[in-house]
Amino acid sequence: MRIGVLTGGGDCPGLNAVIRAIVRKAHGVHGDTVIGFYDAWDGVLERRYAELDVAAVRGILPRGGTILGTRRGSPYDAPDGRERLRAAFADLRLDALVVVGGNGSLTVASMLHEELDLPIVGVPKTIDNDVVGTDATFGFQTAVQIATDAIDRLHTTAESHDRVMVVEVMGRDAGWIAMQAGLAGGATAILIPERPFDVAEVARIVTRRHDRGRYASVVVVAEGARPVPGALEVPPAPLDRYGRPMHGNIAHVIAPELSRLTGYESRVVQLGYLQRGGTPTAYDRVLSTRFGLAAVDAVHDRAWGEMVVLRCGRIERAPMRETRGLTRTVDLALFEDVATSFFG
Ligand code: F6P
Repeated sequence: MRIGVLTGGGDCPGLNAVIRAIVRKAHGVHGDTVIGFYDAWDGVLERRYAELDVAAVRGILPRGGTILGTRRGSPYDAPDGRERLRAAFADLRLDALVVVGGNGSLTVASMLHEELDLPIVGVPKTIDNDVVGTDATFGFQTAVQIATDAIDRLHTTAESHDRVMVVEVMGRDAGWIAMQAGLAGGATAILIPERPFDVAEVARIVTRRHDRGRYASVVVVAEGARPVPGALEVPPAPLDRYGRPMHGNIAHVIAPELSRLTGYESRVVQLGYLQRGGTPTAYDRVLSTRFGLAAVDAVHDRAWGEMVVLRCGRIERAPMRETRGLTRTVDLALFEDVATSFFG
């Protein structure tokens, strides 16, 4: 078969491990031709690609980023995008395309599959862990570990100065990184998009903790967390070239307010893109490898319109359309039961 592969959306650790697994199984086992498209859909529309054999993917398992490059954007952005895509499939004699992406890319992939009847298979990825239908996405565990390591370090410097550290992590619509890293790092409070926060309540938690004689508080906030209406003024986030809000300001809004309400000095640490960089953890390498192998199986089974998913430890398949426009958010019962028990 002639199998295309692209990585779309924000990058995450484990993308190279997926590419490697796809090539090892498709080219190495089945003798397929694997065509790696550069810069996501741009590479398909502009015919920028490289044939990937086993030698081409040697040594990339532990490497962060993606050797193919990635972009946001899709064939829907230009009026003739879908026609050009159809032409590219025909000219390159593609039997299949594997789209490795998050919610946005999988939504686009599923629409293109249904609208143009294209043979597409999906692989979910994102540090945000917010793809509906899979128990986990690769990249997430690595991001959580990076954030946890940072929180551990911030505890000691905060302690020395009796300060409040407000640590902002990624997660525009889902607070998985904040919850997991906050729990693992012993955060004083965790603020997530799913549950609007009251800064006065956070201040009470911090004050209670310091009154008990504890130095240092670490408040972990997801970039998409928002206050209860009327409690705090949050300036609107600027938009990127695709019209998506660029978050990354909420910690700067919270920290001065916490200082004012508690009397303790606050500092802001935004982990930002550090969470997406560098080598994947062993867990993410294994998950992405399993996803890559399963994607090739899905291609050979002609399971078009499906994506590979993790469910109860097993790799299965689910229709990509089930993810369309949806976000897998944090289970609030879990948040209340587990995370809030340690606040303060
Ligand atoms: O998609 C994951 C994510 O890390 C979000 O949490 C974050 O808001 C976004 O990507 C930012 O990505 P970029 O600036 O690359 O568009």
